[in-house]
Amino acid sequence: MQRFCDLHCHILYGVDDGAQTIEESRALIDTAYATGTRTICFTPHYNPLRELESAGAEETFRTLSEEMKEKYPDLTLCLGAEILYHQRIADSIRRGACRTMNGTRFVLVEFLPEDDGRYIVQSLESISAGGYTPILAHADRYKSIVKRPKLAISLAEKEIPIQLNARSLLGRNGKRVRRFCHRLLKEGAAAVIASDAHDPNQLDARLDETYRIVADKYGAEYANAIFWHMPRVLLGLERD
Ligand SMILES: [Fe+2]
Repeated sequence: MQRFCDLHCHILYGVDDGAQTIEESRALIDTAYATGTRTICFTPHYNPLRELESAGAEETFRTLSEEMKEKYPDLTLCLGAEILYHQRIADSIRRGACRTMNGTRFVLVEFLPEDDGRYIVQSLESISAGGYTPILAHADRYKSIVKRPKLAISLAEKEIPIQLNARSLLGRNGKRVRRFCHRLLKEGAAAVIASDAHDPNQLDARLDETYRIVADKYGAEYANAIFWHMPRVLLGLERD
């Protein structure tokens, strides 16, 4: 059976706008596991203006991990964060307000959907200059980047990993966004496809359907790289 690593999701309960209760976390993990996911990194939102909302994630993570170790011994769980871009990301990490991906030097960074593409590129470069390597969360969500796929491709060329949301490739965010995802895949510019799952009622946590689309069109080797190997490298679980 094909295994998947979900690098970006809001499955950890009670810390952001994703799962609210432990029951919702369990439902999302059950769906993920039943459809082939074997590594999950929980990435609660971190917004510097609403810092307290993401507090307590470590404790909740320990509780859920203990329970899942019993239920699914071959499921690896990690903790990261989805950080809303701000100029002091390195400071926020150093003082423990937010965290990198599973303790690595990689940070998952998001912007506002209407942010300018050039601003996004320059901001990501500034994080690299500060000693961390950004991963651009859901490149398919920024209108200016979707309009200009070359901006995303230029980031990939600078070895800034690009993450796409699985549901965009399924066409749930419209044809234009789906075309954008295919363009990046065709160019080999997407590093990771993840669920960004929030909602236990929407089968949000599964990656198997999207994997099949990618494997059929671009080959199993690339599909394995972006659904398993690359995200695990970014979490420090495998070597490049
Ligand atoms: Fe997210």
